[in-house]
Amino acid sequence: MSEIKQSRGHWGSRLGFVLAATGSAIGLGNLWKFPYITYENGGGAFVLIYLFCILLIGIPIMLAELLLGKRTQSNPVGAFGVFRPEQPVWKLVGVLGVFTGFVILSYYSVIAGWTIEYSMKAVMGQFSTVAPEKAGEMFVAFLGNPYKQMLWHFVFMAMTVAIVIGGVSKGIERWSKILMPALIAIILFLTFQALRLDGARQAVVFIFNPDFSQLTSHSVLEALGHAFFTLSLGMGAMLTYGSYMEKKVDIVKAGVIVAVMDTVIAIMACLMMYPIIFTNKVEVKESIGIIFTSIPALLARLPFGNMLAVMFFLLVCFAALTSAISLLEVVVSWGVDELNWRRKPTTLLLASVVFAFGVPSALCNGTLPLFSAKFFPKGGGEWLNYLDAWDYLASNWFLPIGGFMTAVFVGWVLKKEEVIGEFPSKTHKVIYVVWRFLLKFLTPVGVLVVMLYKLGALNFIMAK
Ligand code: PHE
Repeated sequence: MSEIKQSRGHWGSRLGFVLAATGSAIGLGNLWKFPYITYENGGGAFVLIYLFCILLIGIPIMLAELLLGKRTQSNPVGAFGVFRPEQPVWKLVGVLGVFTGFVILSYYSVIAGWTIEYSMKAVMGQFSTVAPEKAGEMFVAFLGNPYKQMLWHFVFMAMTVAIVIGGVSKGIERWSKILMPALIAIILFLTFQALRLDGARQAVVFIFNPDFSQLTSHSVLEALGHAFFTLSLGMGAMLTYGSYMEKKVDIVKAGVIVAVMDTVIAIMACLMMYPIIFTNKVEVKESIGIIFTSIPALLARLPFGNMLAVMFFLLVCFAALTSAISLLEVVVSWGVDELNWRRKPTTLLLASVVFAFGVPSALCNGTLPLFSAKFFPKGGGEWLNYLDAWDYLASNWFLPIGGFMTAVFVGWVLKKEEVIGEFPSKTHKVIYVVWRFLLKFLTPVGVLVVMLYKLGALNFIMAK
């Protein structure tokens, strides 16, 4: 492919960056995973712990990634190399990041594909005739249909490619400027509708009134793990998006806006779903259940229910799309920068490989016995199938390891002179001191404790 180094893309404006990066952050993590884990962990107390994780661990790593990208104008592998060419081991952190982006996208696309099928089902009014108890069967039947699984996995990947192929400002930024305002308008509308239901009071109390008796050490670990996933940290997505920033953009302001927006949308997702669930007094037993079974069936019972269900699935689909483009962009930016390939063929080639890697994820939920086998030991006697195994590895190991290494690199390896340029004003200097402290001590120690706990090494202290 092309021998000549191509000029790197840039965001057209600061708003463009903020919309693209919030688009990356807001995704299935906010609309699917967060409402479910908050529900499972008893509400308010978990939300509080989660907020601390975002503030003390998420935001420092977010700034570290933006800084690495912006200063080096490079993809994750290149960024570590530019700063420490004499210590090539650091490049491995970037390599792990690109690989993680590849892995996450391969199954993310499958789940996101389900939201397209469900948008169609909602348009055709299929939920209005389904009792909530039967919605589960409908979902299982859909999961077992190999043609549909493959079709939507393909369609979703194709949509992602169509956007990424256009480049940074003409593809990603342009589409983020359309999809993000649409997403915010829909979630505001749906939350407002949900808050008028009878169960709204109970929902608000559940989310904002912490009851610490519900909390276990496991909840704390889950909150921290989720902070990485939801802010798209630990695999170079924010680093890559930071590398398209203009010199004059303030990374502190931009990073904090992204983290705040992501958190607000996650809480709004709860404020939108819990009233529906509490009003109908249903028990949510499975994570998948919340958005693919209970919610559509219950939404359809409300006035204009079909329209609300259509909006709901479009919301989830848009959110997933703007996250998927950032995952693909990490992989593509590596091909373009490191291998000096041309953008279009790189996007098509790498997306095809991601698609192929995700095929077993599309077929592992009961479609084909071969792929549906639960072969991966999670520990505690639990076994995972192909999709769940990759999700477990990526969310619980690859992202925290990537985040930990990034914190160590920026906190310990880089010198003050190499980073202080991003903290120009007096206020910035104060922020710098706090940030550097967190990045040196609290962030890596926090992540390390979580990983050791998961390995079972700390069971004797935290036995609960
Ligand atoms: N942050 C996205 C979400 O919440 C997922 C994601 C993870 C996207 C890592 C990019 C990188 O769904």
